[in-house]
Amino acid sequence: MTASEPLLTADDVVAGYLPGIDILTGCSLDLHPGEIVGVIGPNGAGKSTLLKAIFGIVDVRGGAIRLGTEEITGLSPHELVARGIGFVPQTDNVFPRLSIRENLEMGVFQDPKQFAARFEVVAELFPLLAERSGQRADGLSGGERQMVAIGRALMMDPKVVLLDEPSAGLSPGYQDEVFERITSITDHGVSIIMVEQNARRCLQISDRGYVLDQGTNAYTGTGQQLLEDPKVVSLYLGTMARA
Ligand SMILES: Nc1ncnc2c1ncn2[C@@H]1O[C@H](COP(=O)(O)OP(=O)(O)O)[C@@H](O)[C@H]1O
Ligand SMILES: [Mg+2]
Repeated sequence: MTASEPLLTADDVVAGYLPGIDILTGCSLDLHPGEIVGVIGPNGAGKSTLLKAIFGIVDVRGGAIRLGTEEITGLSPHELVARGIGFVPQTDNVFPRLSIRENLEMGVFQDPKQFAARFEVVAELFPLLAERSGQRADGLSGGERQMVAIGRALMMDPKVVLLDEPSAGLSPGYQDEVFERITSITDHGVSIIMVEQNARRCLQISDRGYVLDQGTNAYTGTGQQLLEDPKVVSLYLGTMARA
C-alpha cells in the first residue's frame, strides 16, 4: 500500500497558536490512497493541532503540507475543501438548531447543485441521515450527531477526511458503530486521518499509525506493529497511558 505516491504529506511541520510558542516542533505524517491512518498519543501531544495545521486553521511556521505534489501549506479551509479535504472537528461539529438535511446542505454550500447526488451517497453510508433528515441536530444522540458531522464532511466528495476523536463521548455500542462506518467510508475512495483517544480501537482499524508525543513523532508503524510494540503498549496503550 505504501508503494503508491502519498496523497497527503505533512513534512516536519512546526506550528502553534501563540507567538513564540510552538506546539508542533517538527511533525511528519503521510497518507496513501485508500488508507486509514491513526494518530494517537497523550492528551496535549498536539494531535488536534496537527489536524488543524493540515486544515489551515493554525499558523504553520515551518515545514510543509502537500496534497499530492502540490504544496497546500497556509491555504484557507475553503480552498482546502475545494481541493478535496474535509475536516470533522472534535467538538461543535454540527449546527444544533438546523435539521439533519440543512446540516448536510451546509456541507455543499460551495456547490449546492451537488446536493442530491451526494445526499444519495451519504445516505447509503448513514441511512439514518435520510430516514430522519427533517429532525433537528440538537435532538440527536452523540453517536447520531457524529454521523451528521462525518456525513457533512463527505458531502463535498472529499479525497481525504480528517477526523478528530470521532468516538469521544460515545457509548461503547456507538463507538463500535462509528468505527465500522469509518472503515466503510474508505470503500468509497476516501482516505482518512483519524485522531483518537481510544488508541487500541483506532490502531485495530488503521492501516498505519503514528504516536505523537510533545509535538513530535514518537513511534510509527502499521496498526498491528504498534499494537504489538512493548514500548508503545506500556507507554501509550497500557494502564499508565490512561492515567
Ligand atoms: N487555541 C489554542 N490556543 C493556545 N494553545 C492551545 C490552543 N489549542 C490547544 N493549545 C495547546 O496546544 C497543546 C496541544 O493541544 P492539542 O493539539 O489540542 O492536543 P491533543 O489533541 O493531542 O490532546 C496543548 O498544550 C494545548 O494547551
Ligand atoms: Mg485533541
